Formats: sequence, C-alpha cells, structure tokens
Amino acid sequence: MIETLDIKTTKTQHSRLAETDFDNLPFGKHFADHMFVADYADGEWKNFEIVPYGPIDMSPAISALHYGQAFFEGMKAYKHADGTVTIFRPDKNAKRFNKSAERLCMPELPEDIFVQSIAALVDLDRDWVPSQANHALYIRPFMFATDPYLGVTPSATYKFMVLICPVGPYFSKTLRVKIEDYYTRAAEGGMGYAKAAGNYGAGMLPAKKAVEEGFDQLIWTDGKEHAYIEEMGAANAMFVLDGKVITPSTRDTILDGVTRDTVLALAREWGYPVEERRVSVAEIIDGAKNGKLQDAFGAGTAATIAPVGSITYDGEEYFLSDPKTREFSQRVLKELDAIKYGAKADTHGWNYVV
Ligand code: PLP
Ligand code: COI
Repeated sequence: MIETLDIKTTKTQHSRLAETDFDNLPFGKHFADHMFVADYADGEWKNFEIVPYGPIDMSPAISALHYGQAFFEGMKAYKHADGTVTIFRPDKNAKRFNKSAERLCMPELPEDIFVQSIAALVDLDRDWVPSQANHALYIRPFMFATDPYLGVTPSATYKFMVLICPVGPYFSKTLRVKIEDYYTRAAEGGMGYAKAAGNYGAGMLPAKKAVEEGFDQLIWTDGKEHAYIEEMGAANAMFVLDGKVITPSTRDTILDGVTRDTVLALAREWGYPVEERRVSVAEIIDGAKNGKLQDAFGAGTAATIAPVGSITYDGEEYFLSDPKTREFSQRVLKELDAIKYGAKADTHGWNYVV
C-alpha cells in the first residue's frame, strides 16, 4: 500500500474547456485537458505523470500493434448537486484490470496506484465532469506493450495511461437486438473475461453486419452450440423471467461487469429471486412468446441500463413491453442514478469521493 503517489504534473497552457459544447457530447469524442501516463520497465512501475492530452511518441514495432498485447477499463465520474465529484466503484475496475493483465501476460498494476492515478487526473480536470442529467466523465485506463520487437513473446516494457471524456448517454433509444447464432465473441479457454482490445476488434464485423440488417446490438451466444446467451454487445445481458432476475453466470467467456454486480446486489436487497446460471436462448424466446419475459436490458458502464425493445432470433422478431412500464429496470435505473449523482445516501460504499 503506497501512501501518496508521487505524480509529476504539467498543466496545459491552452484549456479546451470553454470551447467544448457540453450540450453535444457524443461518446468518446471529446477529451479533457489532461491525461495520465506511467511506464513499466525493469520490473517496476515508474514515471507517474499527468500531462496535457495529446499524441504520444511510440515505435511502430510495439507488440501492442502487432500482437494485441493491450487492454482497457471503463468507469465513470459523476457530479453531485453540491459539486462533489465521485467515481463509481473504481476498486472493482482495479481488480478486473489485473485479471486482464494476467491473461495477456502483462504486469499487474497495484490497485492503489490504479485508483490514485485516476483520482488525481479527475481531480485536476474536475471542471470537465458534466452536471447535466445522464451525463458523466467517462474514464478510460489502458495498458499496452511498448517493446520495439517483432518476436512473439511478452514485452518487457509497458505503458499505463488514462484518458477522460465528458459523455452523454451511449444509447439514446430502446434497443432492437439480434441473437447472434453464427459469429462468436469468446470461446472457452479464450480471453472473453478480459477487457482485451482484441475482443472488441473481433466483434466489429458481426456488429457491423447486424447494424446493416437494422439492429442496434447483438446478443452473443456460446461458441460451441450458440444455444446459451452470453453478453449483449459491450454490456452484460440481464432479464426478468417469470418474476426472477436472471443473468448468465460469469465464466471465461463473459466479462464480469461492475454494473451487473451492482444490479444483482440491488435485486437481492429488494427481495427478487436472482439466478446467475446458464441462460438458454430457448427459454428467453419462449418467455418472449408467452409473455413471461417481463424485462430485458444491457447493463454496463457506457450503456448504463439499456432496455431491449425487441429480440430477433431465427428471422422472427419478438416485441417486449414498453420499457417505461417495466418494474425492475425502471427501479434499478432510478436507484442507480440516485446513488451515483448523490441524491440518495451511498449505503454500499460504492462512491469514491475525489
Ligand atoms: N461486457 C462487455 C463485453 C463490456 O465491454 C462491458 C463494458 O464494460 C460490460 C460487459 C459491462 O461491464 P461494466 O458494467 O463493468 O462496465
Ligand atoms: C464500458 O462500458 O466501459 C465499455 O467498455 C464499453 C465501451 C467498449 C464503449
């Protein structure tokens, strides 16, 4: 445990804050004034720095570019009515960061360095945290291999960086989703549970095809039989089926989502029966047919709680109830917002105060 991280800070001479239109914040396009950078070499993390956001120098031979030794995290900071800024459950992301690192043969980053570097960056750029409803400061920590060497072996040097972006909602409408029964996001023994950059590159072609067919998102199924539901795009898939809150159990093909964990904790507190288990496509489609599927949504940091309006499977589209009338996801959405934006006491200790 380190006391305080020694960070060298170089402030920008030209803040872009005043020229940024906070009423028009598409996801991930506007970056705050500063970013965090650290290096790993000789078996240790060093050179902790906050610098103006901008291009970085790197060799074109780094293994991150050639072999995908790269991964990331995602979390958000929120502004409360009294101006307090909090980050939602960064300790969970710190742990998952290291699970990804281990899977990709990359060095772990001590959890307190992860949290302190992010807190210091958000603190410096706290005026970039939006105050409108449904807006937040998206935090993107990432690590990549920097050895200029084309051999297929783990790099000996790495960079850890953090970018921050003020963002509005990721999805602005109820989702029309398709159950994917050909492409696979992750296989058993693979790296689906890691937030590896390559997982997202591999998902782009199937997602593009789905969009061309008029869908907003894919529901990924297992790679062996395409018979079990795994995830929904860049979010975990959650359902209310016959009064029970149901979600695929985490396994090596599924990202162990912080939002998922939060939703399950609330559901249990509220007394809903909760089932984390394999969820078959058949039971979801049956539920959609016979009206027992009362709710379906994606849960994620960027996605927040993203209601599904219809599910298409095998050429047939099944429509669900109007999201505004759904008891569970509406309640979760309200509760989560109240906690994150400070309207309600944070009895779980989920808000990290910057
Ligand atoms: N699954 C995938 C593949 C994701 O990219 C994300 C987004 O981070 C999630 C699930 C949801 O995870 P979290 O709630 O931690 O953001
Ligand atoms: C997140 O919710 O943090 C994500 O990682 C989604 C992102 C890939 C857009």
